[in-house]
Amino acid sequence: MGKYIINGGSTLHGQLVVQGSKNAVLPLFAGALLTEDEVVIQNCPDLLDVQNMSRILRSLGADVERHGNSVKIVGKHLNSHEIPVGLAKELRSSIFLLGSVLARMKKAKVAYPGGCDIGIRPINIHLDAFRELGVRIEERYGYIFCDASEIQGAPIAFDYPSVGATENVMLLASGAKGMTTISNAAREPEIEGLQDFLNAMGARISGAGTPFITIEGTEHFKGTQYTTIPDRIVAGTYLIATAVCGGEIEIIGAKPAHLHSLISKLTKSGCKILVDNDNIYMNVSGRVAAFDKIETQPYPGFPTDLQAPLCTLACVARGTSSIIENIFETRYKHIPELIKMGARISVIDRVATIRGIERLSGAEIAAMDLRGGAALVLAGLNAKGTTIISDIHHIERGYQNFDGTLAALGADIIKV
Ligand code: EPZ
Repeated sequence: MGKYIINGGSTLHGQLVVQGSKNAVLPLFAGALLTEDEVVIQNCPDLLDVQNMSRILRSLGADVERHGNSVKIVGKHLNSHEIPVGLAKELRSSIFLLGSVLARMKKAKVAYPGGCDIGIRPINIHLDAFRELGVRIEERYGYIFCDASEIQGAPIAFDYPSVGATENVMLLASGAKGMTTISNAAREPEIEGLQDFLNAMGARISGAGTPFITIEGTEHFKGTQYTTIPDRIVAGTYLIATAVCGGEIEIIGAKPAHLHSLISKLTKSGCKILVDNDNIYMNVSGRVAAFDKIETQPYPGFPTDLQAPLCTLACVARGTSSIIENIFETRYKHIPELIKMGARISVIDRVATIRGIERLSGAEIAAMDLRGGAALVLAGLNAKGTTIISDIHHIERGYQNFDGTLAALGADIIKV
């Protein structure tokens, strides 16, 4: 298992081109199975999660080949409708393969995707919606058996705007007869990306980005070439890293509109941020002001995926911050590790109260999950002395060349 070794104290300076979005590209891989034609996904980040999704598609009979920053998928010869247990456990988000495999093969078998590092992660919203579309579902021995031979469009109302369930229903309903509507749909930019991709393949979807999505089923899908949207969470992580260390950064290819909430909070805390259509420039010196209250919410609220990195910034801000994690029930696993570095944090239920200090101190710590691990890297960049972070495979699930990019910006970080 790899480790990062970081000597803290450098400021960050320079430019970076932000990678394609992990959370946008994973549902696109699922959508590529709707057609027998070739699908090319450009600006596709090379990450552990993407490699695992590629393995799952190959196990179903698809050809998947990476050519630089693009991945070519040909689902002409699908020969299985069973999503392999081991890989499904590795990659929770393989659950939205259910929608596309059912739309294409009319049946599917998948192991119950257990919880993960940040919460129980139930799939009741997915399965309830599938039943409303006419999918017959049997759950036994930890497996989910689905029969979609008689699916029909239907009006669906979500109790909660689940991102994955919105994507799963879009994938399944695209191949169902008749009209499907989703009310209280998730509004994340990745949903709009999926709509654009599926429409390029011949689907007829509208409303993504709003709480009300309409999907008109279609019989035939064609191949397409599609460029993945930029990764707003990775872009946000580098902005927060610069605020933690001081310096100036220009993020090329990031969509400021996808990061309104973070940009507003960082500006209020004293960071100087300029934006144009596809770039974000930030300059910060000295300690930022604390955050009186940060509450994670569904998009366009403050994203839960940036909660952990922002905790690190709050640890070295001037004053006391309050951070409330509303989306996942155990997304504070980075906090005990930050406390080992001298952070002053107390957690009651979902509220973390963080008293900012001048600087953290290096320590030997472990990454527990993807975004919490990234938060620990940012803490090491600030800390006096050396920080050694183990279990960095969690971080490599979502950040392409994280150490190399930070080193190019001036950080003293190596991977061993
Ligand atoms: C997606 O997860 C993202 N993953 C997550 O990013 C992100 O944190 C999350 O959306 C929220 O923005 C991918 O896109 C691959 P949800 P997803 O369904 O689809 C509950 C990262 O770090 N829920 O909106 O699983 C659930 O337990 C990852 O990149 C149900 O109760 O998110 C959670 O509390 C982490 N029943 C809340 O809703 C369901 O059927 C949000 O889940 C589904 C969800």
